[in-house]
Amino acid sequence: MKSEIRDLGLAPSGHQKIEWVRRNMPLLRMLEEEFRREQPFAGIRIALSIHLEAKTAYLCKVLAAGGAEMHITGSNPLSTQDDVAAALVEDGLEVHAWHGVTPEEYEVHIAHVLENNCQIIIDDGGDLVNMLHSRYPEKIPYVIGGCEETTTGIIRLQAMAKAGELKFPMVLVNDADCKHLFDNRYGTGQSVMDGINRTTNLIVAGKNVVVAGYGWCGKGVAMRAKGMGGRVIVTEVNPVRAIEAVMDGFDVMPMKEAAKVGDLFVTVTGCSGVIDEEDFAVMKNGAILCNAGHFDVEVDVACLERIALEKAEQRHNIMGYRLDGDRWVYVLAEGRLVNLAAGDGHPAEIMDMSFAIQALSAKYLVENKGTLGSVLISVPREVDQEVAARKLRFLGKEIDVLTEEQDRYLNSYSL
Ligand code: NAI
Repeated sequence: MKSEIRDLGLAPSGHQKIEWVRRNMPLLRMLEEEFRREQPFAGIRIALSIHLEAKTAYLCKVLAAGGAEMHITGSNPLSTQDDVAAALVEDGLEVHAWHGVTPEEYEVHIAHVLENNCQIIIDDGGDLVNMLHSRYPEKIPYVIGGCEETTTGIIRLQAMAKAGELKFPMVLVNDADCKHLFDNRYGTGQSVMDGINRTTNLIVAGKNVVVAGYGWCGKGVAMRAKGMGGRVIVTEVNPVRAIEAVMDGFDVMPMKEAAKVGDLFVTVTGCSGVIDEEDFAVMKNGAILCNAGHFDVEVDVACLERIALEKAEQRHNIMGYRLDGDRWVYVLAEGRLVNLAAGDGHPAEIMDMSFAIQALSAKYLVENKGTLGSVLISVPREVDQEVAARKLRFLGKEIDVLTEEQDRYLNSYSL
């Protein structure tokens, strides 16, 4: 099947972006060399649905170096970068994605990826796995297994598995320590603030920054917003997480209260309707709203579209909604993941770890073909430890090693 992208002529800029991240992703560079030598994916067709930018593109190239035939689509309409897509096509990979894809076009792109009877599925948010089960069940027998990148995708998978509907093994990449401890926390923390700053060109210091959700991502966003001088308020539904936020030094209150005082709002819950009509009604003039959760349902933008008296684009990726009198609220990047839709996503060094886990998990699936059952699988502990150990080496850090006596002590129960 022929690739479907915007413009092959954009490839030079895409190559440049991929080369920059390649230089800053030493784990993936090492895997690229190993895979090129060992060809673990020889004869394997891989389907990917991912935020198609330079770092994910490099992951695709690493898998291709290992012998895989790659079939790629995006995972969010605004996160695909057309120049990066063009570079991959020029390198001989098959891509069905463009920036600003409509929901209908996205479905066609997924269909064209799945037409290839892929054996490994690499998903980010669960769309590929969902479509395979609901629309293309005849393709399921080809599938060896898949890997899921993000929290929201895992929640969907858990629901499928619980209902007995999951038809092949899925590795929960997000649950690996080397993924969520770094990617969700430090990656989201930095890239969300970067997306907000480059889009608004406004100051964070002195603002009331409301972070909805104090999970791994929320912790990162709150930490970085505080570091920039913001006064952080956390909203939560989980009492344990709320206590963590209190003890980390943040104010905690319900969204209904936070809505009255917030200057900048970031939702990162994986839930829907986190900021809704009642909240919009009490917001200050000039409040800025954005989302970093996987789907664009956390800030109820559809409601704003319905109730606004006037709507006007203020700057690229900033839509203003006049709610009454001269009271405006502003939504960044249509309420889609602000770090990807209005930025370049996580830093390369962070995704180096996440994608090393992805690549090794895909290899694990191939090596264990037919033995795993239709279940959810944790990333093997050895893989997590190996990625961490290699990363430490690249960071030039050494750590202590247990002596035999210490090891015995830690493994004994008698005094
Ligand atoms: P998590 O499960 O660790 O944390 C989510 C938190 O939100 C939980 O503490 C939960 O109690 C809270 N929550 C749920 N509903 C809420 C509501 N209505 N109001 C307030 N709090 C609520 O999940 P994690 O890893 O932090 O991921 C959150 C979302 O971010 C997911 O959709 C995930 O897929 C996405 N994500 C986005 C990334 C990005 O680049 N923007 C990167 C990684 C994950």
